[in-house]
Amino acid sequence: MKSRYDNEMELDFLSKSNNEAFARITVAAFAAQLDPTIEELADIKTAVSEAVTNSIIHGYENTEGLVKIKATLLNNVVQIEISDNGKGIEDIELARKPLYTSKGNLERSGMGFTIMESFMDEVEIHSVVGIGTKIIMKKKINKENNKEEIEEEKNALID
Ligand SMILES: Nc1ncnc2c1ncn2[C@@H]1O[C@H](COP(=O)(O)OP(=O)(O)OP(=O)(O)O)[C@@H](O)[C@H]1O
Ligand SMILES: [Mg+2]
Repeated sequence: MKSRYDNEMELDFLSKSNNEAFARITVAAFAAQLDPTIEELADIKTAVSEAVTNSIIHGYENTEGLVKIKATLLNNVVQIEISDNGKGIEDIELARKPLYTSKGNLERSGMGFTIMESFMDEVEIHSVVGIGTKIIMKKKINKENNKEEIEEEKNALID
């Protein structure tokens, strides 16, 4: 099989909150191949955490199910798909709005999608009620900036 990507990986895990850290660390380790800055890696980890938490809390409502992640690298773009076969989202536009949460009583702040959108370049939400939800996020890793950063770090060491 010839992949159309430079690299790709898939991860399936049970919807347990213990797996949130596992998922974000694994995706970050995979994305590290693109030589991201510490900040870019932190952004990816945060976005993955938000999407995985949503699948566990809202998709499966703390019942047991599988969360799937597929991540691909192509040129300097990392694409991450996070999906569940949970209850789905009735109104996607409403769900995207800052501060909207269907679980206000559970100390949710309704900022998950807003955080994903601010840390990633693109966030698509696909969802069908009763079938599940898939979030597709992309982030371009800005290698030119990173080169400059490395140069600056080198110069700082010499000075
Ligand atoms: N995977 C999912 N399955 C079903 N519903 C979802 C899913 N992801 C998000 N939602 C719905 O979209 C709403 C908004 O999600 P968002 O992450 O922005 O806020 P939140 O999870 O409620 O709060 P926070 O992320 O700040 O803790 C959720 O309250 C929920 O109703
Ligand atoms: Mg959330």
